[in-house]
Amino acid sequence: MDWKVPLTELSYGPEEEQAVLDVIKSKWLTMGAVTEKFEHDFRIFMHSKHAIAVANATEALHMACLVLGVGPGDEVIVPSLSFVATANAVLYTGANVVFADITSPQKPTISLRDIVKKATPKTKAIIVMHYAGYPCDMAEIYHFARTHNIFVIEDAAHAPGAITKGEYIGSYGDIGCFSFFSNKNIATGEGGMLTTQDDEIARRLRFLRSHGMTSLTYDRHQGHAYSYDVVALGYNYRIDEIHAALGIEQLKKLFNNNHKRGLANYLYRIGLATTVEVPFTKFKERSAFHLFPILLPVGANRQAFQEYMKEQGIQTSIHYPPIHLFSYYKNRYPIDHELPITEDYAAREVTLPLFPTITHEQIDYVCEHVKKGLSTAHEVISA
Ligand SMILES: Cc1ncc(COP(=O)(O)O)c(C=O)c1O
Repeated sequence: MDWKVPLTELSYGPEEEQAVLDVIKSKWLTMGAVTEKFEHDFRIFMHSKHAIAVANATEALHMACLVLGVGPGDEVIVPSLSFVATANAVLYTGANVVFADITSPQKPTISLRDIVKKATPKTKAIIVMHYAGYPCDMAEIYHFARTHNIFVIEDAAHAPGAITKGEYIGSYGDIGCFSFFSNKNIATGEGGMLTTQDDEIARRLRFLRSHGMTSLTYDRHQGHAYSYDVVALGYNYRIDEIHAALGIEQLKKLFNNNHKRGLANYLYRIGLATTVEVPFTKFKERSAFHLFPILLPVGANRQAFQEYMKEQGIQTSIHYPPIHLFSYYKNRYPIDHELPITEDYAAREVTLPLFPTITHEQIDYVCEHVKKGLSTAHEVISA
């Protein structure tokens, strides 16, 4: 569709084109020097000791669970208000998922109170997700986890560049997992990164990423090795040089682009102040402003609202249909997960367009139609 205001737009220029061309001209496409540079730049930006690039964040989450020893018989607490990959990664290991609620409609990140309620002696890890780019209560969650021998994995897919208590997201937990899917703040098409401060975890992640092999094709190309051993059951979760090259260029733009997202977020908040509830009004730290969620009033017809917005050429989305309500998860866990706040939030949430190049005029246009769309959504209800 030809949207007047799309949900998201790539922040690409000649730099990305040149970076891809340079890789092609170099005649080296698989994981090599460009990937090493991307990992180096990422780790410096995020103030992290290690950064390990992979083909996507789903794989990053899977490997994070594996290296922390998550497996059959274990439980991992995850938010249901997330993309399904957050929970799937746990199931891949044979462990069980336990869903935790969000704190409140104003603060739709994982609730420490519900984590505490749902933790058992089987809880091996907690995966937090920094929803929309806003950091979870990391200090409190990490403190609880540490005192109960539980690992913390950060699903940082929404939050590269966000900061809480002076720490970059991805550096607070045991392992951080980032996504570079096309709609993310760093977009490479497909791509992901793990961060950790732990040398041993980093070493094992590097083995797991590439079949558990002790040397790579690139090492042999450089004349550093002739053969290899396989020391673990690994995977092919490698990134390639073209995606890594795009990542390097996108990372250079991250700080400015997050700032532009922040300005757009501010203009939206002013434009919608008296119209509709917007989460995170009291948030005081540094968000990555990945998404702009709003909450329709109870009883409003969301589909009618989204239809109205579509007719105006404005793309909207929903973040997220809760994971525990998907057919697969309902069949697998036919229980009451007791997630009332998640269910209320997910039924009322609508995501508005947000991207670094969104203009003031586009934001005004969206705000004007949010107001009109809400009366349409109420008329449909009362008709
Ligand atoms: C919160 C969250 N976690 C995990 C993922 C999975 O990322 P990827 O598509 O890179 O596998 C996504 C991607 O949309 C996401 O939004």
